[in-house]
Amino acid sequence: MCGIVGYIGASAVKKTLLDGLKELEYRGYDSAGLAVMQNGRIEAFKAAGKLNNLVNKTASFEPKGFAVGIAHTRWATHGKPTEINAHPHRGERSYVVHNGIIENYQPIKAELIGKGVKFISQTDTEVIAHLYESFLAKLKDPFKAFETTVQSIEGAYAILLIDETAQETIFFAKKGSPLQIGEGESGRYLASSDAPLIGVCESAIYLEDGSWGYVSEREIKIFIGKNIVSPQKKPLPATQGAAQKEGFRFFMEKEIYEQTKAVGETLASRLTANSARLDELSADFFDEAASLRLCACGTSYNAALSASYLFERLAKIEARCEIASEFRYRDPVLRKNEIFIVISQSGETADTLEALKMAKKAGLKTLAICNVDNSSIAREADATILTRAGIEKGVASTKAFATQMTVLWLLAIYIAQRNGADEEAIAKEIGAIRRVPSALAIKPERHERIRRLSKRYLHGHGFFFIGRDIFYPLAMEGALKLKEISYLHAEGYPAGEMKHGPIALADAELFTIALTPKTILKEKMRSNIEELIARDSTLLAIGGDEAAYADDRLDIDERDHPMLEFFETMTIIQLLALEIAVRLGNDVDMPRNLAKSVTVE
Ligand code: F6R
Repeated sequence: MCGIVGYIGASAVKKTLLDGLKELEYRGYDSAGLAVMQNGRIEAFKAAGKLNNLVNKTASFEPKGFAVGIAHTRWATHGKPTEINAHPHRGERSYVVHNGIIENYQPIKAELIGKGVKFISQTDTEVIAHLYESFLAKLKDPFKAFETTVQSIEGAYAILLIDETAQETIFFAKKGSPLQIGEGESGRYLASSDAPLIGVCESAIYLEDGSWGYVSEREIKIFIGKNIVSPQKKPLPATQGAAQKEGFRFFMEKEIYEQTKAVGETLASRLTANSARLDELSADFFDEAASLRLCACGTSYNAALSASYLFERLAKIEARCEIASEFRYRDPVLRKNEIFIVISQSGETADTLEALKMAKKAGLKTLAICNVDNSSIAREADATILTRAGIEKGVASTKAFATQMTVLWLLAIYIAQRNGADEEAIAKEIGAIRRVPSALAIKPERHERIRRLSKRYLHGHGFFFIGRDIFYPLAMEGALKLKEISYLHAEGYPAGEMKHGPIALADAELFTIALTPKTILKEKMRSNIEELIARDSTLLAIGGDEAAYADDRLDIDERDHPMLEFFETMTIIQLLALEIAVRLGNDVDMPRNLAKSVTVE
C-alpha cells in the first residue's frame, strides 16, 4: 500500500529518498514519485509502474548538498495508477504526498474549482496542496495555513507537505495512517513505517493520531490540536535483518522455507517442560474472561478461524471470529467480560486497527497478536504477543501465518492450563507444539513433486479447497494463496457444505484440492471426496489418508496430532500456489493489485 519517505539533510537526497522507497516497495504500489527542494525551488518527478521507472526518470537529476525531500509509492484508490495521479501532487508552489483517504475531498474540490483552481489529477490528495495554498494566500503564514488545512480535512491520512515559501521545512500530519520521524547522523527522516529508517536512524518517534507539525533542520515540532507534544523516542533495530532472497527465486519461496526457523523463534522461551509461558500477559489477564472475540483480515482472519477451534476444544472457552471490515459497521454487541483479540502481521491494517479501537472504547480488554513491534496495533492494544516471524517481504503471507498459528495454539494451551485442563492433555499439546518446526521442514523431493504436479493445475474453471474442522480455515488459506499469486479463481469451503450448492459446479474441469489428514474426521472427509469424484471433479488429495481416492495425491508424513498435520499440509498448499504462479509467469512477490500493508479501509 502507499508508502511515504521524507528527508532533511545533506546526504545525497535523491538516493536517500529512492533507497527509502525501495524499502517500502514490497508493500505493493503502482506508481512512485519524489520532490526535492533546494534554495526555495522544488523539482518533482513521477512515474507510473515500478520504482525503476522513477530511477530512470531521475537519472540526470543530481541535487548536491543540503536539501529537503519527500517521496511516495502509490497504491491507487482514487483514480487510475497513472503518472498524473502519482504523488507528489502540487499546487502553485507546494507539493504533497499522502497515504490514506481524504473523505471530504469532493466538497473541498468543488469549492476550490468555484474559486478558479485547476485540478489535473483524479486523486483526493491534490486538494491538500490547493487547499493549503488558498489558506496561505489568506493567512500569509505557512505554519498557520498548514494548521488550517489539517483542521479542514476529514478521513484517514499521513501527509507530508513542502512549500517553496517555507524553506528547510517538511510539514506533516497523521490520523489513522502510520507516520514516524527518525533522527540520524545524516539528517532527519519521516516515513510511513520503520523500514526506511532502519540503518540510518537509531530511534523513531511514533506519531499519535491527530499529530501535526513540522520538521526542519533546526527542530521537530509536534502538536495535537493546539498543544505541543514532547516526542517520545523509541529505539530502532540497527539492521534490517534478513531481507535478501539468499539463493531462492522469490522472497515468498524463501519465507516458506524459513518457517521452520521462524516458528522456532516464536516458541523460544515460551515453553517449559510441561506448560506454555506467555510473559507478555499479566497473571490476571484472563481472570474475568468469559469468552474470546477474534478479529482480523485476510490470512490473519484464517488464522483466527482455525484458532477458534483450538480455543473451544482445548481451553473450553467460547471463541467467535470477526472479519474486521464487517465488524466495524454492524453495531456488534460487546460484553465487558469478553477478551478482544486482534491478529495482524503488519500491525497497520486499517480495519483491524479501528475494530481494536472500538473494542477498547467499549471497555473490553484487548490483546494483539502481531509481527511488528511498535506498530499502531501493538501500541493500541492492552497487551501484545509478538509472533517473531521477522520481516515478511512476499505480499502473500506465509511465515506470518505459521507464526500466528503457533502463538494462537500456545495461547489456547495457556488458557487451557488456567482453566484447569487435564495435565496429560496439556503435556500432549506441549509435546506436539515442540515438533512444529520439524513439521515445517521442506524436503527437496516433496518440493520437486509439487513443482511437477503443478503443470496439471493451470487451467480449469476454478478451484475448490475443501477441508473440515481446523482444515477448513486452512482450505480457505490455500485458496487465498492461490488466487493472490496465480490470479486463478479459488474458493475455500467446508467439505461438508459442498453438497449444499457448490457441488453443482463439479465436472472434470473443476479442480478440488481436498485436505485429507489422518488424525481428524478422516471418514467424514472420505465421504465428501466420494461425492465429488462421483461427479467427475478432478481431485488432488493433500494429506495422509490413503483411502481418499483421488486423481493426484500429495501425502504428508505420519503425524500423531492434527496441528502437526495442519502445519505440514500448509507448506504443501503454499508451495503448490507458488509453483502454479511461477508456471503462469506471474510476479510472485508483488502480485498485481495487492498491497502488503492495507492502511485504507
Ligand atoms: C494474504 C495477506 C492478506 C493479509 C491481510 C491482513 O496473503 O497477506 O490477506 O493477511 O491484508 O494483513 P495483516 O495481517 O497485516 O493485518
